[in-house]
Amino acid sequence: MIHKLFLGLTVIAVVIQAYPEGSSSYVEDDAIMHPRRIYPKNSRIAQEEFQSDYWIKQAQATLKAKKEKELNKNVAKNVIMFLGDGLSIGTIKAARVWSGQQRGEDGEATQLAMEEFPYAGLSKTYCLDAQTADSACSATAYLAGVKTNDGAIGVNGQSVNCATNLDESNHVYSIAKWSQDVGKKTGIVTTTRVTHASPAGVYAHVPNRDWESNTGNADCADIAHQLLYGETGKNINVILGGGRERFLPNTTIDVEGSSGLRVDGRDLIEEWLNTKAGSKATYIWNRAELLSVDIDNDYLLGLFEAEHMQYYLDVVDDPLEPTLAEMTEVAIKMLEKSENGYFLFVEGGRIDMAHHGNLAKKSLAETVQFSEAIEVAKRLTSEEDTLIVVTSDHSHVFSQGGYPPRGNDILGIGGRGKDSILYTSLSYANGPGYRQEVDGARHDFSAYDLSDKELRFPALVQLSSETHSGEDVGIFARGPWAHLLSGVLEQNVIPHVMAYASCVGDGATACKDSSSNILSSKLFLMLCLSIVYLRRYV
Ligand SMILES: *[C@@H]1O[C@H](CO)[C@@H](O)[C@H](O)[C@H]1NC(C)=O
Ligand SMILES: [Zn+2]
Repeated sequence: MIHKLFLGLTVIAVVIQAYPEGSSSYVEDDAIMHPRRIYPKNSRIAQEEFQSDYWIKQAQATLKAKKEKELNKNVAKNVIMFLGDGLSIGTIKAARVWSGQQRGEDGEATQLAMEEFPYAGLSKTYCLDAQTADSACSATAYLAGVKTNDGAIGVNGQSVNCATNLDESNHVYSIAKWSQDVGKKTGIVTTTRVTHASPAGVYAHVPNRDWESNTGNADCADIAHQLLYGETGKNINVILGGGRERFLPNTTIDVEGSSGLRVDGRDLIEEWLNTKAGSKATYIWNRAELLSVDIDNDYLLGLFEAEHMQYYLDVVDDPLEPTLAEMTEVAIKMLEKSENGYFLFVEGGRIDMAHHGNLAKKSLAETVQFSEAIEVAKRLTSEEDTLIVVTSDHSHVFSQGGYPPRGNDILGIGGRGKDSILYTSLSYANGPGYRQEVDGARHDFSAYDLSDKELRFPALVQLSSETHSGEDVGIFARGPWAHLLSGVLEQNVIPHVMAYASCVGDGATACKDSSSNILSSKLFLMLCLSIVYLRRYV
């Protein structure tokens, strides 16, 4: 502890020596580095929390639950992967506080659905050619188990254009394909276009994520086309999300008044129904249809928006827009009829997009919706036979800081700057929330309604779109072999572990291991018997 403190001070001293200019006003005083205010017994804090007993009991209860937890080495019949796009650790913290505060509860101690999972790890998200991941290369890592170039989906680093993409040896297949190969059902649920980078990682093979409806090259199939006709896409049982425009010709106007984007004149929604003619298949486009859909369908395609689905805060209780939790529930109910189990991919896709706009409140609300969907999966499945993995593709340059008191409004003020101007607790390193200084003075956000969902939180560097961050993201797991998803892992290890647990794919699996264990124990038995025989009779 003292060593660490000493090391910290040394680092600070070195930094000051390295940058002498402007450091003259630097005061090495702990009271300034860590300003403290003494709060009166805050009514927002439960009185028992002031007693040591409360914390000791809470810690002992957690310890007891952890040491009594037995390793689950069952075969995972089902795997559900939840992907929070851009779900940084900081976003999880801020969203849990916001979620609790919304209900008038103790926000800091609130738990989102995945926080109750028994195992967690960190995922290193860099891609083949990028220090900071995009959603395409990262999807290839966490679904197909191979790191690739920024912007590439379902291909290795050798596919860089249409010509190299025609070489199928450059394609890599996702755990959805591995699962289909052993007779499992599969599904994708997302709040983005179903052709967007993360869900496309389940079924598409493109060097360029922008080929959603038009590759600019007739030889290479676009992502929407691959969802209908690709080796993996054609077998997906449940497809729910947005992106209708990518399936319709640019000459048509869809049911909600948006025009299609396809330039090949094809109506892929109609074609999808035609390809499923021999099975029970349904196409739906609104929430009411989803909530009354017959789960005995073999195939379900739901496209609820022309573009991405709306931000939750913009469509609360909308009759046309289902929630992520509602879509997840229908998907699980359809897939769980599979005797061989299923692989389901669920994406909270707009946590990321709200962050890109520095729209902190919307990002937190999307995260809470994501948590609600995980809650549905927990309720509908058993830890005994279903592995649930919750992770993210990459982080965001989003932070929560200052020294606000316990119970402080998470969207509120974090403290006062040296310039005497208040600053918000939430902020970004870059993005459109940047505000020009006025007469050399930092912009004062305290004049705004900080609870406004459209408020762009402050950013240091002006950019039209806030950037991802290269830091690690969390992995949360429960169910068979969930304990293997602990420690600091390369992102592409995740599908290998899910495949191990569910006995799919070409790599090691729990089933192969247990049969070789049975085999080796049989060999051992035979060896013992022959020794006994030899000693007696020879
Ligand atoms: C549709 O796309 C084609 C091919 O790019 C183009 O020639 C045509 O003008 C477009 N039509 C509309 C209505 O945008
Ligand atoms: Zn993004």
